[in-house]
Amino acid sequence: MNVRFDPAAKLRGRISPPADKSISHRAAIIGAMASEPVAVTNYLDAADTRSTLAAVRQLGAIVEIRDDEVLVRGCGMRNAQPPTEPIDVGNAGTLMRLVPGWLAFQAGASFTLDGDESIRRRPVDRIATPLALMGARIQARQGRYPPFTVHGDALRGIDYELPVASGQVKSCVLLAGLATGQTTIREPVAARDHTERMLLAAGAPVSRVPIPAGGYETTVGNCDELELERITVPGDMSSAAFLIAAGILVRGSRLLLQGVGVNWTRTGFLRIVQRMGAIVVGDLEAPQSFGVQEPVCDLDVTAGPIEATTVQAVEVPLAIDELPLVALLGCFAEGETVVRGAGELRVKESDRIATVVDGLRGLGADIEALRDGFSVRGAGSLRGGRIDAHGDHRLALLGAVAGLASQEGVEVVGMEVAEVSYPGFGDSIAQLSG
Ligand code: S3P
Repeated sequence: MNVRFDPAAKLRGRISPPADKSISHRAAIIGAMASEPVAVTNYLDAADTRSTLAAVRQLGAIVEIRDDEVLVRGCGMRNAQPPTEPIDVGNAGTLMRLVPGWLAFQAGASFTLDGDESIRRRPVDRIATPLALMGARIQARQGRYPPFTVHGDALRGIDYELPVASGQVKSCVLLAGLATGQTTIREPVAARDHTERMLLAAGAPVSRVPIPAGGYETTVGNCDELELERITVPGDMSSAAFLIAAGILVRGSRLLLQGVGVNWTRTGFLRIVQRMGAIVVGDLEAPQSFGVQEPVCDLDVTAGPIEATTVQAVEVPLAIDELPLVALLGCFAEGETVVRGAGELRVKESDRIATVVDGLRGLGADIEALRDGFSVRGAGSLRGGRIDAHGDHRLALLGAVAGLASQEGVEVVGMEVAEVSYPGFGDSIAQLSG
């Protein structure tokens, strides 16, 4: 489906962005591992998170979708049922990388996972390696791609240094660590910590401390039962980021984004745009905070001029899904915006260094790909044209925002993929355009 986004006059009003995708995936998986029912308020209704509900149903959980909540009646920690058909993760990398942490300790049972064309290009060796050290066996296509099978076993604790700062890999090892005496994970720089917070809320022994040399060390101990009555999912910072970028770039805009999750491990984008001079005001969580809460606030965004910035490697995991928007903002900023240390972008739903650079260049941007990032020379404006989403939801949404801020508008080829994380994006824009 091709959709045109014309230059917007101004965007004004209040809006609640969709529920957080990362936290919704975790709520469904941890709900399925629990023995008592877990009620999830504001569960994201989007393609990715529907895949997770379908997956946990296949594994034996009962999921009731009610008007105001999703109720997950779990199977308990060690009772996941091996399905007769492979688990279809669809486009959901988070589902694919988290749920094996649970399946790895279903001793004597095997589970096959597969997904769409994009997921089949995304590596799983990053979870297979630590799970194998713990005692599970993973058989993957060419040793590293889906489809793959998890053979569950009795697990032993490990002390593991993450080769990349990945919230997904860390979460997988943490879930598996619940079935070990003690498992410690060191991340070189902080990555999102939603799993740690939710496990702590569910009564698991989790500790997370900063390492003086940089990064974090997280330890999880044995846990026989997870108990969590209710999870309330905040608005998704990563989806809100598209509205924030539009609010900054479309002249005359003023937006109030309500109920956005501002866990500091997710607000790197806000710190980057504030540094660029953008006016985004909200009660953000202080860096380094940790606890059971997922903090939420309203964000007040006012359009205005921006300056170029350089994004450092330590900031990358805290803004990983928003970096395409940093490239777009860079087109409008004064000076050269550079992002380095973001090689992980190459293994997202698309190779986001290649697709963002080619896509924005096609719209008139002066942008160059680097091995591990990109550099953009700002021109104060963007011509517009046509951009292919390449089956990547964040690229489709990037094209849409580029259109609103452009001189001539943008046609997004394959806009339907935005359903993965932000169904109804067009309606949000229509509402804000009055
Ligand atoms: C996610 C972590 C990030 C992010 C992805 C969701 C998560 O991936 O890009 O969209 O929910 O843990 P990595 O952990 O692989 O960097």
